[in-house]
Amino acid sequence: MRFLGDHTVKLRVNKASPFARKVRILTRETGLAGRVEEIETTVSPVAPNEDLARENPLVKIPALVTDNGEMFYDSAVICEYLDTLHSGRKLFPAAGPQRFAALRRQALTDGILDAAVLSRYETAVRPEALRWKDWIEGQRRKVFGGLAVLEAEAATWSSDFDIGHIGAACALGYLDFRFPDWEWRSGHPRLAAWYQGVCRRPSVSATAPS
Ligand code: BEZ
Repeated sequence: MRFLGDHTVKLRVNKASPFARKVRILTRETGLAGRVEEIETTVSPVAPNEDLARENPLVKIPALVTDNGEMFYDSAVICEYLDTLHSGRKLFPAAGPQRFAALRRQALTDGILDAAVLSRYETAVRPEALRWKDWIEGQRRKVFGGLAVLEAEAATWSSDFDIGHIGAACALGYLDFRFPDWEWRSGHPRLAAWYQGVCRRPSVSATAPS
């Protein structure tokens, strides 16, 4: 297989970040993991991080730097870039309806994650006196709106595993990790069954959030 040749890339990650996890799953699915140096990076929405800001002015992870200094962000772009660097099964379908189904599913699961991470910041980072319950409830509604669509689709997924399914695994894993009290499995039996199976993939079990 042609991988990165002799080249390596540097990937800023955080083991709690579901967006970094998308990339970490993709590198393990595609055989690229040995070429990707993962650098654990602490992030906060309110604290500066000059090292990270040099690689992503939005100061977000994941951020990827190649050994000739090219920089890529966000997770969707990094994943698609890395998927061009191997000759195995592609996680971004090349063209046609399958490609747009995968991209749409990735957009949906990224949106679920955006809402969940914003809720996490609101409940864990924002001072208690400033928290806004209606806003958190609005984010939670977005999460559950997205889960309803995934539940309707999950019966058709069988053993497919593309970038959208990676996103779904990361979203459900993040809800278990940060919002166990939201009990996402309740009312989503097909998604729960799919997730139980997908957690057996080595790429998924090796990247569980911590
Ligand atoms: C978290 O701790 O929940 C988290 C960490 C990094 C990015 C997003 C979320």
